[in-house]
Amino acid sequence: MNLLEMKNIYKSFNGMLVLKDVSLMVEAGEVHALLGENGGAGKSTLMNILTGVYQRDKGTVVFDGKNYNTMTIAESEKIGIAFVHQELNLFNDLKYTRIFF
Ligand SMILES: Nc1ncnc2c1ncn2[C@@H]1O[C@H](COP(=O)(O)OP(=O)(O)OP(=O)(O)O)[C@@H](O)[C@H]1O
Ligand SMILES: [Mg+2]
Repeated sequence: MNLLEMKNIYKSFNGMLVLKDVSLMVEAGEVHALLGENGGAGKSTLMNILTGVYQRDKGTVVFDGKNYNTMTIAESEKIGIAFVHQELNLFNDLKYTRIFF
């Protein structure tokens, strides 16, 4: 059974179609990689819809059997969805030589 179902998602920005009929199904415990070309495939847009940062134009989002078509950031946090945003300087105050991991 799918824990997450994003079905037939559409999203445009200023008339530019970025997500066209995109679906993503994830079962509990699965690990997925979302692959697409740099600078425009729509990976971040899809995750921003899942986390309530953007609203989808069309399509359905179901998590744990519940409908979240108009997900808010607060709702996504509440149900345990976490998103590490793409940011090259996560540790602005650290020098490269001091990062150990
Ligand atoms: N808030 C926004 N306003 C206008 N256009 C946007 C916005 N967010 C994303 N886009 C556009 O949507 C398209 C997809 O961008 P997105 O960031 O989702 O791609 P990506 O697959 O995550 O790319 P990258 O590999 O660079 O992270 C791009 O053309 C981008 O310019
Ligand atoms: Mg991205």
